[in-house]
This record gives sequence, structure tokens and C-alpha cells, in this order.
Amino acid sequence: MPYVHLTTNCFADFLGAGGLDRTYFELMLERTRAALEDLRAKRADASLPLLALPAARDDLDSVMAVAADFRDRFDHVVVLGTGGSSLGGRSISALADGGFGPRSGAPRLWFMDNVDPHSFDALLAGLELSRTGFLVISKSGTTAETLTQFLICTEAVRSAQGEAELSSRFTIITEPGDNALRRIAGRLGMAILDHDPGIGGRYSALSLVGLLPAAIAGLDPAAVRAGAAEVLDAALAADAPDKVEPAIGAAIAVGLLREQKIATTVLMPYVDRLADFGLWFRQLWAESLGKNGTGTTPIRALGTVDQHSQLQLYLDGPHDKMFTLIMLGCADAGARVPEDLAGDASLSYLAGRTMGDLMEAEQSATASTLVANHRPTRIFRLAALDERVMGGLMMHFMLETILAAHLLGVDPFDQPAVEHGKELTRHRLAGERETTS
Ligand code: PA5
Repeated sequence: MPYVHLTTNCFADFLGAGGLDRTYFELMLERTRAALEDLRAKRADASLPLLALPAARDDLDSVMAVAADFRDRFDHVVVLGTGGSSLGGRSISALADGGFGPRSGAPRLWFMDNVDPHSFDALLAGLELSRTGFLVISKSGTTAETLTQFLICTEAVRSAQGEAELSSRFTIITEPGDNALRRIAGRLGMAILDHDPGIGGRYSALSLVGLLPAAIAGLDPAAVRAGAAEVLDAALAADAPDKVEPAIGAAIAVGLLREQKIATTVLMPYVDRLADFGLWFRQLWAESLGKNGTGTTPIRALGTVDQHSQLQLYLDGPHDKMFTLIMLGCADAGARVPEDLAGDASLSYLAGRTMGDLMEAEQSATASTLVANHRPTRIFRLAALDERVMGGLMMHFMLETILAAHLLGVDPFDQPAVEHGKELTRHRLAGERETTS
């Protein structure tokens, strides 16, 4: 498996007060059996396309061809899209560019998911447009933010480079059928790739939505899918829920909510490259489960940084949170603190140690402190962080979310409240009278 999932410290028999009662957990876990059976059936009859992605390879040749073209022609690639159309690709691509520039031979990716005019003006003023490509992602092709970004970038390229350039600069990912994005892009001769209509935005990271940006960044999409396949295959091959890590995670989260009133879930990787993954998880969990008055609130934190910001609250504030720490083995990694410069007597614990030694000590110390304070804490332990592990983590959390939705009795794939907000925005701009009732 791409990770080790350690859950002991969520249970009352280890954690004491604040932990989940084993018997209640087993009841929750047993209830995932039907959902696992349903997932098996849906994979067999291909009625949930998300489950076919990990094993699929036939679409990757075209992903690699488009990525190679972007890599050849552009120094910058602007990815326009929001929510699930942005966060998957951004999370995976962070493996190649942790914020200090792209890999050699790869363009720099700019994930623009907001419509803050100041940021957008700065982006367009700062880029060399003659060496910039645009990847526009919207499943529906109707999202106001993405359409606005698209039309403004189209105009910027048309003014600077001429209309004839548009067709070679923009590639669109949207679902088949009629929508505004597809109509405009088609009229301007832009390349259009099909978004699978059966895969919702926040579940699309393993489709071309997440894998095309990743391939442009120089990553291996097949390895992402291979990692996801390991987790999915293990989950669906298991003969009982207690051998299914995402089912265990879902039963803990929902068990803690119901039994201990723990309504907040903190995901805290100790890895900068997983900071965006925290945003992806936050959307997946919130938008999939927050329905009908239920759900738990996801918080994205980052170790060690948030030890100096949030940890006081986590350790000593209300007992309303469960913690998921993601730890990457890093003992002996990175630069070493020079012994002579750290000669101060108070720094003997640092002299000669690597930065990875400090990170390793901090992550395990935080876990121990959380447990000592009776905070339910589970750990994902990673031996490495690469495409395979990223794919495995993504599949774990997608399955865990779907199974938690089953336990909570909500549909993980819709977002009715958000759709209502989108509709109101359109009406407001169109000058129609808004009714909020
Ligand atoms: O997960 C979701 O369904 C949403 O976050 C969507 O991805 C987001 O609203 C963008 O929608 P679209 O891809 O249709 O532009």
C-alpha cells in the first residue's frame, strides 16, 4: 500500500476519555459493508466511472500528447477553473513545483481559481503572453467565474497577439453537449477535450482534469493511477470492512461525530508539497458531506507551521476535533546544522542534526502530545511522496468520503446548496430581482 494508516489513538481503549468506543465503531464499520458491496457492483457494471479510472490507460496517450505540446510551446500555462476543476490538478502538480519554479523543461503552471480583479490584472501584466498557453476546465461549461476568466484571457490574447492565435493557445475541458464554454471555444476553433459527464468535479482528479496539468508539470499520470488502483483494488477485494482502510476511516469519523460530538476534522500534513492536497481534501469532504444538517467541518493545517498558530487550540481548546496527521519519513534528510555554528550550549540538541531530523521529531512529538491530551488522532505514514503515493491518498480519501456519506445518509455526489448560489449570482448580474426565500 502507498501508506500506512494508524488509527489506534482514535479509540477509547487507547486514548481514554474522548476516544471512540470500540463497540460503537464496529457497528459503524459493519454498516459500510453494504456501501462496499454497492461500490463493487458499480465498478463491475461501470455505472460509477470514477471507479474505472485507476485501471484505465487508454486515454493517457492523448493526455501525454497534449502535455508534450504545451511543454514544447509554452513557458507559462494558466489553468482556469474553480473548485473540483482546479484543486486536483493543483494538488498533484505540487509534487513537481513546490512553489520555487517548475521542473526543467516544464512550463510554470498558474492555477487561477478566483475572480479577484487585482490578481488577474497582475497575472496578465506579468506574463509573456506570446509564450503562454491556457487550459480552461469547467465540467458544466456554465460556471460564471471560469467563463469570466476565460473571456478576459481570450480578449487579452486577441488584443496582444491577434484572433488567429486563439485557437492554438487555448485548450478546453468540458462535458459533451451544449454549453456556453463549448459553444464559444468551438466558434474560435479552440481544441476541446471531453470531461466525462459521469465524474463530478471534486472526484475528477484522476481524470484528465487532474492528470493533464500534472503531465504538463512533468509528472507521470500512469503512476498516479497505479497508486489509486492499489488502494481501490485492496478496498474492493477485501472480504470484510475491517480490512478496508477507507471504511475504517469513515467509521471513525462518523462514530466520533455521533458518539463524541466531534464535528471538526483537521488534516495536517507535515509536508509542504501536500499543502494544496489539504485544500483538495477540504473541498471533497465539505461539499460531499455537508448536507441535510449533517457533516463535519474540515480544517486544513500544515505542520510544523500551524504548531505555532493552531496547536494551542487543538490541545487545550474544545474537545470537538479529530486529527489526521500525514507524516513523511525524513530522518537524516536535508541539510545538516553545522556543529561549529550551533556551538551555543542551549543548541546542543540541534548541532549536527539535519532539518529532516527536526521535522521527524516535531511530527511525532505533536502526535504524542495530541494523544496525551485525549484528542483522537490518526496517522498516515508515508515512506516516500511521489505520484503513486499521491494517487493512493486521493483514492483513500475519495472512498472514505463516499463511505462516510453512506453512514450519514447523504448523497456524496451532489451539491444542491452551491447550485442555488450559482443561480443567484447569474440572476444578480442579469439585473433580475433576487428572491432569497
Ligand atoms: O466539485 C464540484 O462539483 C464543484 O466544486 C465544481 O468542480 C465547481 O463548482 C466548478 O464547476 P465546473 O467544473 O462545472 O465549472
